[in-house]
Amino acid sequence: MTEHTIRIDGSDVAFACPDGETVLDAAARAGIELPYSCRKGVCGNCRAHLLDGRLVPGTEGGSHETGIRDANEHLLCRARPDSDLLIAPRHWQRTDPGERKTLQAKVFRVQRPAPDVTVLQLRLPAGVRARFKAGQHLQVLLPAGERRPYSMANAPHDNDNLQLHIRHEAGGRFSDGLLPTLQVGDTLSVELAHGDFWLREDSERPLLLAAGGTGFAPIRSIVEHLIRQRSGRAARLYWGGRVPADLYAPEQLARWKTTRPSLEVETVLSRPPADGSWTGRTGRLPAALLADLGEGSLADHEVYACGAPALVAALREVCTGPLGLPAGRFHSDAFVSQGPA
Ligand code: FES
Repeated sequence: MTEHTIRIDGSDVAFACPDGETVLDAAARAGIELPYSCRKGVCGNCRAHLLDGRLVPGTEGGSHETGIRDANEHLLCRARPDSDLLIAPRHWQRTDPGERKTLQAKVFRVQRPAPDVTVLQLRLPAGVRARFKAGQHLQVLLPAGERRPYSMANAPHDNDNLQLHIRHEAGGRFSDGLLPTLQVGDTLSVELAHGDFWLREDSERPLLLAAGGTGFAPIRSIVEHLIRQRSGRAARLYWGGRVPADLYAPEQLARWKTTRPSLEVETVLSRPPADGSWTGRTGRLPAALLADLGEGSLADHEVYACGAPALVAALREVCTGPLGLPAGRFHSDAFVSQGPA
């Protein structure tokens, strides 16, 4: 089997990528974490410039919605090398493969705050603590080697348990298969922590947090972490859904009025009920941002956005466009349907 050498521009990092493997997977095996979220060529988080070398035809490029603007930009979750490569990812870091753990967690509580959302509370074995950063996700390990990613909704200090917000997908092997059968006391294998969607704490910049539906989970973790840290960072949260049930945690929003009174919260529905029972804001989340925030007003902010890929793409567009956010300060996690079994 042919192996190609991938080098990261401006560093002495080099790793091997065998024929057929994506650059993203080869980097992870070598202990190099590159930005990613969906791994399916949808979210654009893994885009990087190719400075030298060739990719296997058909694995290059990506759509405009993924944030790709240049001919030499590619999605590393799809890109497979056809020669040695020199790449310039948006950022990278070395990881300690031993830091990622597989844990046996017990189902502690199952709640159904909306018809298509389950909040699953898992408890770790006595003395075992989860290590993760606010905003990161875990992978539920399913039989036959399949995995499903879900963000932790609890904060990192609250580390003897894991809270997951799971939207049901028709035919989904986990959400529509295993999840409805889970009973309190059942065991799930989970691997954590994953992902580079996590709160950067070396900054005091004001935060704009934006969530669509169950994209609220990692945002909840970030807000709870800010509260725990007694952080004085200004933060504003936008949570959008189609129908009222998509905004399934009103008690949490009410609690933050006491625990984090400075947090400004806006909830927005794109398909409010026709009976007039929704008296809040209507429309799409990106339009609400545009309406509320002046041109260039995000120039000194950091944005954390989580939701469906189309929403994340639209948020990126308005934030890094008219609202003036520097592209490197748009952090996102896109939930991509895993499809039926
Ligand atoms: S991780 Fe590559 S496009 Fe989402």
